[in-house]
Amino acid sequence: MLPFHHVVKADFENVNALIIRQLHSDVGLVENIGHYLVEAGGKRLRPLLVLLSARACGYRGEAHLSLAAVIEFIHTATLLHDDVVDTSELRRGRATANARWGNAPSVLVGDFLYSRAFQMMVAMNSMEIMRILADTTNIISEGEVQQLINAGNPDTSETDYNAVIQKKTAQLFEAAAHTGAVLANADADTCMAMSRFGHHLGMAFQLVDDALDYCGNAEELGKNIGDDLAEGKPTLPLIHIINHGSSQQADLVKNAIRTADQSRMAEILDAIKATGAIDYAMARAEEHVAMARRQLHDLPVSDEKTALEQLADFAVNRSH
Ligand code: IPE
Ligand code: IPE
Ligand code: MG
Ligand code: MG
Repeated sequence: MLPFHHVVKADFENVNALIIRQLHSDVGLVENIGHYLVEAGGKRLRPLLVLLSARACGYRGEAHLSLAAVIEFIHTATLLHDDVVDTSELRRGRATANARWGNAPSVLVGDFLYSRAFQMMVAMNSMEIMRILADTTNIISEGEVQQLINAGNPDTSETDYNAVIQKKTAQLFEAAAHTGAVLANADADTCMAMSRFGHHLGMAFQLVDDALDYCGNAEELGKNIGDDLAEGKPTLPLIHIINHGSSQQADLVKNAIRTADQSRMAEILDAIKATGAIDYAMARAEEHVAMARRQLHDLPVSDEKTALEQLADFAVNRSH
């Protein structure tokens, strides 16, 4: 558990128990794959964000537990599908579900988790929350498809890249923070501020994820590094080399993106170092964290508010 989880420790444990309960299915394989992934842990940042956002906005009921579980199910479903699409082999320190059971069960259990999330959402009976999460789920899929289109394309710009990470990642963080505030019946300005907080946190989070794919440690991350290059993904560190490296460095990276070729990784890592590509991406992430923190300005002082600030800092100071 990360330090900022402690503020909502009891809630957090209840959410984890609820997640396990809600995995139930009469079909054994569904439960096996669901438990396999859920029991491997994961940081649970999105459900935490729901809990903190709701409580920081003064919520005192219990529905935030279901909402947190719903958001984690949507996240887990995207991971199942994402690992198939990215042909990834390691997740949360274990073989991915696709590596262990194959693509077909992974896709189908991902669908199960999406639909379970929607069953739980309907039971919450809030049209506003349902609208936000239906839109969010739709936007995440668009982001993943846009990323697929950009793969192998070295002409992808920083703006294109930002549009993808907003959709595939920041959108869910935004929805987590936003729905927490909606549940607490916060006023429109507060809902907007929380929503912006989640957006900037999510942008920072994915910028760092993409940096860690070049400079992180697989053991700490629980997933393999270098996966992005293997898929020809034009992420920000590579875009920076293309824009600011020598023509030789730019050609090296463009070719690697075009052919999804990892074989010249050592030279690419040299170019990353020489052009300060990781520092550049981290600086963009820091800007988002600063903007995220600013959104919290008008929230009353509380332990939950402090934990939200710590969560924002963690997005850039993490190694996992
Ligand atoms: C992984 O998210 C997918 C991205 C958006 C980068 P997390 O790093 O939050 O994954 P878990 O849930 O902790 O495993
Ligand atoms: C994650 O993007 C986005 C979603 C799961 C929607 P990545 O492909 O970078 O995530 P990891 O690195 O596999 O966790
Ligand atoms: Mg992936
Ligand atoms: Mg990644």
